[in-house]
Amino acid sequence: MTKREVMERIGRLRKERQAVILAHNYQVGEVQDIADFSGDSLELSRKAAAAEAEVIVFCGVHFMAETAAILSPRKTVLLPDLDAGCPMADMITAEDLRKWKDKYPGRPVVCYVNTTAEVKAESDICCTSSNALKVVESIKADEILFVPDKNLAAYVSRHTPKKIIAWDGYCFVHNQIYASHILEKRRLHPRAEVWVHPECRPEVIDLADKVLSTGKMVVEARETAQKEVVIGTEAGIIHRLEKENPGVAFFPAKDMAFCSNMKKINLLKVLGALESMVFKVEVPRHIADRARGAIERMIKI
Ligand code: 13P
Ligand code: SF4
Repeated sequence: MTKREVMERIGRLRKERQAVILAHNYQVGEVQDIADFSGDSLELSRKAAAAEAEVIVFCGVHFMAETAAILSPRKTVLLPDLDAGCPMADMITAEDLRKWKDKYPGRPVVCYVNTTAEVKAESDICCTSSNALKVVESIKADEILFVPDKNLAAYVSRHTPKKIIAWDGYCFVHNQIYASHILEKRRLHPRAEVWVHPECRPEVIDLADKVLSTGKMVVEARETAQKEVVIGTEAGIIHRLEKENPGVAFFPAKDMAFCSNMKKINLLKVLGALESMVFKVEVPRHIADRARGAIERMIKI
């Protein structure tokens, strides 16, 4: 089948199935291009919650599809590749979190959206990289447990007087962007501004001009007067930044900073998902009902 035929079939089936295709900003370019909507984790949760479609084809990783399933329990949520997981989300289990809470009684738990539904069910409120500070500030307590990303927790700590006790998790893609990568790109592109994701290490954050979620990078790129920008996050977003802003040159802070999980989905797998209605992501009701509270409290903020 040619790429054109694959795209035509996707076009026909998405209508027949009344499906909406959502894609995270790290997806391969061709998947972002056919999506009804591309965005960051917060934007995608909102789209999933508001979607009128019967079927949501979620081009992202497993926790994102789970979040969509929790918010839209009557819809069919499909993840085109079931192996597209998030190693950071797997760094804490619900059992780990229960034991940790026992160690720090009375502290509310903020969970990054990059967690399993079971962990969300054990948490008080969810956050994403674009609203983590707002979420933390919205909580009355002075001490907060934050799971699983220690780098995002450290970034939020810089901007709040609250004490944040962080789980020792991290994203392998962002944690492998080093200060040396930023310094090298600054040397190669001395006029460029440096934008990094808050999942990056503190020493990388120290060297950045701006710290932005992927959604905020998209907005900032439309508004910036810069002609060159170094991007410190998963390199898939550069496809969208270049497409929307032909007058700006974007350079990855680290070459080949790819999340292998995000790259598991391609056009053929999207077609397979629509043809065979696979792979359905369902969350048991007793977990979904508890996890939904944490996500909805975040969405309200
Ligand atoms: P955002 O798109 O919310 O910035 O999150 C990045 C991420 O790592 C998702 O897996
Ligand atoms: Fe998880 Fe990092 Fe990949 Fe995002 S980029 S899905 S946080 S491993």
